Amino acid sequence: MSQFSVQDGVLHAESTSLSAIAAEYGTPTYVYSKAGLLANFHAYADACKGHDTLVCYAMKANSNLAILDLLAREGAGFDIVSGGELRRVLAAGGNPNKVIFSGVGKSAAEMRLALEHDILCFNVESIPELHRLNEVAGAVGKRARVSLRVNPNVDAKTHPYISTGLKANKFGVAYDDALATYRAAAALAHLDVVGIDCHIGSQLLDDAPLLEALDKLIDLIDTLAAEDIVLHHLDMGGGIGINYGDGEPVPAGQYVARVLARIDAWRAQKYDGRPIKVIFEPGRSIVGDTGVLLTTVEYLKPGEEKNFCIVDAAMNDLVRPAMYQAWMDVQAVARRADAPAVVYDVVGPVCESGDWLARERALAVLPGDVLAVMQAGAYGFTMASNYNTRGRAAEVIVDGAQVHLVRQRENPAELFAGETLLK
Ligand code: LLP
Repeated sequence: MSQFSVQDGVLHAESTSLSAIAAEYGTPTYVYSKAGLLANFHAYADACKGHDTLVCYAMKANSNLAILDLLAREGAGFDIVSGGELRRVLAAGGNPNKVIFSGVGKSAAEMRLALEHDILCFNVESIPELHRLNEVAGAVGKRARVSLRVNPNVDAKTHPYISTGLKANKFGVAYDDALATYRAAAALAHLDVVGIDCHIGSQLLDDAPLLEALDKLIDLIDTLAAEDIVLHHLDMGGGIGINYGDGEPVPAGQYVARVLARIDAWRAQKYDGRPIKVIFEPGRSIVGDTGVLLTTVEYLKPGEEKNFCIVDAAMNDLVRPAMYQAWMDVQAVARRADAPAVVYDVVGPVCESGDWLARERALAVLPGDVLAVMQAGAYGFTMASNYNTRGRAAEVIVDGAQVHLVRQRENPAELFAGETLLK
C-alpha cells in the first residue's frame, strides 16, 4: 500500500504534508516513509517465517544510516558491494554476521575488512577472486565462507543495463564452468564453500525468470552433492520490481512463497526434508516506493517544439531518467485549479541536454510550486553525484506526523574541502 496520498488537495507522506516538508527543509529533498519501508521489508520477512531464511537488504538501493538502522532492528541482514557499505552497516549498528559481500571487483583491503568483521559470506564471481580471497584469509589467519555467483543464463527481460544473468554480462561464473570452479574453490585451504547465489537482473515484474534460475541452481546443488560438495545456502539475489507506472509486480510475499515451496518440495524429495538456508537480497522493492524526491519549479520556459519546466533537482540528484531513460511519475504536490495543465519536459539546471527528470508530462504548475518525483526511494540518493559542484539533497524520514532529518543538505563548501592548490 502506498504511503503517499492526496489529502485536501496536497500530497502527503503518511499524515505529513509534503508542502510543509519542502517549506521547512528546502528542496531538492528526498522524503521516505517509515511505515512504507517496514511494510515492504515485512512483505519478505513474513513470507519467510517458519523457514531457515535471511533477508539481506541490498543497500546499494539506499544506504542512509537511518534506513539501515530501521531494517537492522527488524532483523535484516545486508548485501554489500564495497568496504564503504560495510562501514555503513557497522555505523548503523547492523550485525556483520548477517552481511554478504557481492560484486566482481573486491579489493584485498575490502576482503580483509570483511574478514576482520566475520561477515556471513563472500559471493565470489571468478577464479582469480577465489585465489585472492584465499590468500587474504590465510594472511589474516581466518577462513572465508564463500558462495559462487553462478550465471544461469536466464533472460530477465529487463533493461539491458540492469540485466545481469546473460552470458554477455560481466557478472558471475558461467553455468557450464560452475562445477570446475566449485572444485577449485573446495581445494583452497582457507575457504569454506558454503553456498550458491545468482542475480539475473533488477526490476523484474514477473517471477518466472527467477524461478527458472532457481531450477538451474537446484540442479547444480544436486550435482555438487554427488561430489561431496555440500552447500548450506542458496541465495536468490535481488528482489522483485516495483510499479513505476508500467504494471504491477508479483507481490513480494507471493514470490518468496513460490521459491520456498519449490525448495521444500525438492528437499523433501531428495534430502529427506533436510532444509537449506535461503537468502534474498532485495533492494528496490524495500525502498523504491517509500521515497519521493521533492523539487521546486524555478522557471517555466515555453518553446516552439517543447515547453520546459525547469526545476531545482537535476540528473546529479536522480540519474535514473538520464541513465536508463527511466520513466518516473511526477506530481504537483499542491494541486491547483488556477493554472492550465501544459505539457512540459521537466529538466534540471545541469549543463547537459541529458539532464531531464521527465518528458512530456501534463502539469498545472507555476514557478515556486513543489513537484514530487514518485517511486524515487531506490537508486535515487545513492546514485547522486556532485556534478556541476552541486551539493547532494537532504533526506528526511516521515513517521506519521513526525519528520526526522536523516541527512542534512550537502554544503557546496564541503565539496572542495579536500582539494589543495599547487604550492
Ligand atoms: N543483489 C545483487 C548482486 C545486485 O547486483 C542487485 C542490484 C541486488 C541484489 C538488488 O536488486 P533489486 O532488488 O534492487 O532489484 N541502478 C539501477 C538498478 C541496478 C541494480 C544493481 N544490482 C536502477 O536504478 O534501476
